[in-house]
Amino acid sequence: MSSLLHIDSSIRATGSTTRQLSSYFATQWRQNHPGDGYTYRDLAAQPVPHITHAVRESLLDPSRDHGLTPEEKALTEAVVAEVREASTIVIGAPMYNYAIPSTIKSWIDLLVSPAHMVPPGAESGPLSGKTVIVVTARGGSYAPGTPREGWDHQEPYLRAVLSSIGLADDLKFVHAELTLAAIVPAMAALKPLGEQSLANANETLKKLAL
Ligand SMILES: Cc1cc2nc3c(=O)[nH]c(=O)nc-3n(C[C@H](O)[C@H](O)[C@H](O)COP(=O)(O)O)c2cc1C
Repeated sequence: MSSLLHIDSSIRATGSTTRQLSSYFATQWRQNHPGDGYTYRDLAAQPVPHITHAVRESLLDPSRDHGLTPEEKALTEAVVAEVREASTIVIGAPMYNYAIPSTIKSWIDLLVSPAHMVPPGAESGPLSGKTVIVVTARGGSYAPGTPREGWDHQEPYLRAVLSSIGLADDLKFVHAELTLAAIVPAMAALKPLGEQSLANANETLKKLAL
């Protein structure tokens, strides 16, 4: 049985492009995989706390008691189990100040541990073999030839860190750009490009959900 892990992180409960796109993917995927597993985690509504020294130590050496609270232990185990059990993971990641939301970073900090690292020189690790789709939304554009080409610190960072734990075997990025063109008057001329980017993202996700 395959299983989808659906992650959202936009601070907007409504009007969020990443929530719309990740939800569209999840709906399509579930229609195409009836009876398969589905888990949802909202990192904005229920943030994973910043990692503490005790939690980090527990990831480095799970055989010892590091004094974690029952809540810390339960959350760490749940986050890890959700990723281990998923065959497909969709992550909604708005661009915040050229990077990922800090809530996604806290989630990642629980996943990067010796238990999941791809050993040096090896081709795969314990989490390898999953499909991971990162859906981003950005107010501007970071495409080649744009003034801020190279300012996208979402995709390069996620490619690196996810590959270190074997989650980049089948890793795809779907970007919806220029979302602010719809509401910022100075960007009005870019509105058609933003609408096209969103339409392209939905079309790509429909194909990826097959
Ligand atoms: C805290 C914050 C920081 C942002 N930083 C950027 C940025 O660096 N670059 C950009 O293009 N858009 C930036 N934006 C705009 C968002 O990326 C854009 O509104 C996007 O659609 C948010 O995703 P959402 O629609 O899923 O909420 C920022 C928005 C917020 C709230």
